[in-house]
Amino acid sequence: MVRINSIEVSPPLINTSCAWASELSQLEELYHSPHTGAVTTRTSTLQGYNETEAHTVVFSKSSLSSLNSYGYSPHPNAYYLDSVKTILSEVPRPTKPFIISLAASTKTEIQALVGAIQDLRADLHDRDPSSSSRIAIEFNTSCPNISNDSPPTGYVFEELRDILGALAEAYKKDETLTIGLKMPPYVYRQQFIAALDVLESFTVETEGKRKSPWAFLTATNTLGNSLMFSEDVTRLDGTTREEQFGVPTATGGLAGEAIHALSLGNVHTYTKLLRSGEYEGMRETVIIGVGGVTSYAAATRMRKAGADVVGCATLLGREGVQAFKILSTQP
Ligand SMILES: Cc1cc2nc3c(=O)[nH]c(=O)nc-3n(C[C@H](O)[C@H](O)[C@H](O)COP(=O)(O)O)c2cc1C
Repeated sequence: MVRINSIEVSPPLINTSCAWASELSQLEELYHSPHTGAVTTRTSTLQGYNETEAHTVVFSKSSLSSLNSYGYSPHPNAYYLDSVKTILSEVPRPTKPFIISLAASTKTEIQALVGAIQDLRADLHDRDPSSSSRIAIEFNTSCPNISNDSPPTGYVFEELRDILGALAEAYKKDETLTIGLKMPPYVYRQQFIAALDVLESFTVETEGKRKSPWAFLTATNTLGNSLMFSEDVTRLDGTTREEQFGVPTATGGLAGEAIHALSLGNVHTYTKLLRSGEYEGMRETVIIGVGGVTSYAAATRMRKAGADVVGCATLLGREGVQAFKILSTQP
């Protein structure tokens, strides 16, 4: 069991936010698997995202890797709050938490999203400091497929200050609110330092103890600007594309085995930087390791690199919830 602020993740194995955690039926199946310790919803926004045929996912023929061109969920965040409420009400005394993945581009938007989540938590008596919570938040800083002219904010952390400030404010008002951040894959050390410097600046000192609003970091998201050709990929529905590229946008987010070494490196670097005490407020920030966890051996490697909790998305897409049994069973 791993405690992340007010939630308990047991076993420490979860799905990370993805297109296979998008519908109520998918979330129900994930929630009822005995091998998941928490369920993460697909990233949603206040209004929902305009999904078209350009948004899709393919799998490599040569390794267990995926390339996707999705943006955020077409469902607005309210859909996920309703789904979470429905699922929690079906279970007597539920303990398994949901991690609700959010994206927003303004402070007002994030305030509205967090406000609705806090209302739901109040409604479900989920804000009682004497018992564990079943609803946490993950702010997605790093979807590589959003077609505006700016990079994912996870690569320009300074620009996130307003939104992070609103999240930190919500935590200050209610310390039972568990907040994490989904991080992009970084490729050199200064990128980690730049992000952690901004995050550490939100640490507050109460009763002589330094406390950070950031209970967990999930690393890593997909690697953007990646390309696969049509002849090298398969689709879940078995259809083929006449066009040159595997996904209609040509480039998309790479995941699965192809990014495993990079994700392990990211988890290792966070572990070294955070556990050394260099970022005092975040010494205990939990690290959720994800990226190419497609086997029991890969999950073991992710823990060895420093992950407290291990997650997967591509394997879920390939195998369904059976993925979590595969990751839990030593062959
Ligand atoms: C089809 C697909 C959709 C995804 N959608 C999201 C998303 O909505 N939000 C998010 O934070 N990450 C999203 N991800 C990234 C995954 O959560 C994960 O970080 C990444 O795929 C690496 O893990 P993996 O190698 O196990 O797939 C998505 C990944 C895939 C493959």
